[in-house]
Amino acid sequence: MDQNNALYHDLERILVTREEIAQKVRELGQKIADDYAGKNPVMICILKGACVFFTDLIRETPLPLTTDFMAISSYGSATKTSGVVRILKDLDHSIAGKDVLVIEDIVDSGITLSFLRDNLKSRGAASLRIATLLDKPEQRKVPLHVDYCGFIIPDAFVVGYGLDYDERYRNLPDIGILDPSVYSGK
Ligand code: IMP
Repeated sequence: MDQNNALYHDLERILVTREEIAQKVRELGQKIADDYAGKNPVMICILKGACVFFTDLIRETPLPLTTDFMAISSYGSATKTSGVVRILKDLDHSIAGKDVLVIEDIVDSGITLSFLRDNLKSRGAASLRIATLLDKPEQRKVPLHVDYCGFIIPDAFVVGYGLDYDERYRNLPDIGILDPSVYSGK
């Protein structure tokens, strides 16, 4: 832990270190490159949470891929999704006939990705797969198949490496469990 970085003081503990993340991202990139050999997939970053994972992952994926970005909001309390999903920024390009790989930071209830999967499927992609850095399967409320997963984690609210609480902590290089005292009472 970087003791000079005050953001770490708000963590209960570090869950996944930057070294573990880097190793996993290399593995995932290689696996994706093997699975999509001979294809030109479009990798879609789900903003904002997946931004750090996405920029690392595409650089570990040696394929003639293209990128696009989508921003989603799911309303709810500070640390739980409500189930109401809204597209804040749509894709710039059509995905009709394309091999699409959606890159997400974390799957919790599964509601956000299940909405996205149905939405993107209706646009005529040739194939659609989902990659997530983190998965909290205990919290699943709707069935969702994840094709690539970095780490299965326990039911705790985590921040860092792109994941936020109230827009903060995205710039932590490691992933940690946020100390509940930071959000209790909200
Ligand atoms: P779901 O719809 O419940 O699967 O929630 C997915 C979205 O909720 C993610 O894309 C995150 O933006 C957010 N989220 C869920 N769990 C966490 C967490 O532990 N930390 C930060 N954001 C989270």
